[in-house]
Amino acid sequence: MELELNNKTAFVTGSTKGIGKAIAIELAKEGVNVLINGRNDEEVERTVKEIKSTFPTTSPQNATADIVDAQQREELFKKFPSVAILVNNMGIYEIMQYEDLTDEIWEKYFRTNVLAANGLSKYYLTKMLGNNDGRIIFIASEEAVMPSGQMPQYCMTKSMLLSLSKSLSKLTKGTEVTINTIMPGPTLSENVQQIIEGIYNNDNMSFSEKERQFMIENLPQSEIQRFIKPLEIGRLAAFLCSPYASAFKGSPIRMDGGMVPTIY
Ligand SMILES: NC(=O)c1ccc[n+]([C@@H]2O[C@H](COP(=O)([O-])OP(=O)(O)OC[C@H]3O[C@@H](n4cnc5c(N)ncnc54)[C@H](OP(=O)(O)O)[C@@H]3O)[C@@H](O)[C@H]2O)c1
Repeated sequence: MELELNNKTAFVTGSTKGIGKAIAIELAKEGVNVLINGRNDEEVERTVKEIKSTFPTTSPQNATADIVDAQQREELFKKFPSVAILVNNMGIYEIMQYEDLTDEIWEKYFRTNVLAANGLSKYYLTKMLGNNDGRIIFIASEEAVMPSGQMPQYCMTKSMLLSLSKSLSKLTKGTEVTINTIMPGPTLSENVQQIIEGIYNNDNMSFSEKERQFMIENLPQSEIQRFIKPLEIGRLAAFLCSPYASAFKGSPIRMDGGMVPTIY
C-alpha cells in the first residue's frame, strides 16, 4: 500500500470483468473498499468474494444495478450515499456500419455510455465538493480523439466524456476534488479476448500468435504491438486516485500503446 488510499470507498462501474475489475483489484490492493457493480448479481457476488479473499483487510461490497436505469441509480444512492472515488468505467462497444445506425441505437449509446456516468457523477460530485475531497475518473478510449470510423456511435460518446469531464472539473476549482479521463487503447478484457479467439479459430495457434497476427492485420499503428493489460489501466487509475495525482485536473490521459500518432 503505497498510494495513501487505505480505507477509502470507491464505486467502480462495470467491475465484474475487464478493465473495471482490474481497477477494482488495484484499488483493493491499496486498501480501498470497493463497491462492485454489474447487472448480474451472481457475478457481482463472485467478484466481491474473490476480492475479499485476496485482500481480506478490505470490505468490498455488492452494488448490483443496471446503472443506465435512473431508478436503480437512485436505489444505489440510498444504499451508498457517499463515496470518495467514482470510476465511470462501464461502457458498451460494437463495430457497426454508419448506414445501419438508427436513432434508437444512437440514443442507446448516449444513455449507456454518457448519461449513466453523468447521473452518478452529478450525485457524488456534490458530496465530494462538500467534503473537499474526492476523485472521479471517466474511462473513454483512444477512439475519443481518433475515431477509426468503425463505430461512430461509440466514438461520439467517448468524445463527449472528455468534454463532460472538463466541464465538471471546472466545478472543482479551489478544492481537492479531481476529475480526469483515461483513454485506454485496445485492452485485453475477456470480451476482447473472445473476439480474437473467434477471428482465429485455429487450435494450432497460441493466443500470443493470434494477438501478434491481429496487431499486424488490424492495428499496425500500435507501438506496443500487443493488447494493453487491464492491470496496466488499473494501476494508472489507482495512481490517479491518490493524493500524489492531485494536480491532474480535467486531464485526458492516454494509455493507448502508441495508437494515437500525434504529440498531443
Ligand atoms: N477493451 C478495450 O479494448 C477498451 C479500449 C478502450 C476503452 N475501453 C472502455 O473501457 C470500459 C470497459 O471496457 P471492457 O472491455 O473492460 O468491458 P467489458 O469487458 O465488456 O465489461 C463490461 C462490464 O460492465 C458491466 N455492465 C455492462 N452494462 C452494464 C450496465 N448497464 N450497468 C452496470 N454494469 C454494466 C458488465 O457486467 P454485466 O454485463 O453483467 O452487467 C461488465 O462488468 C468501457 O467503457 C470501454 O468503452 C475498452
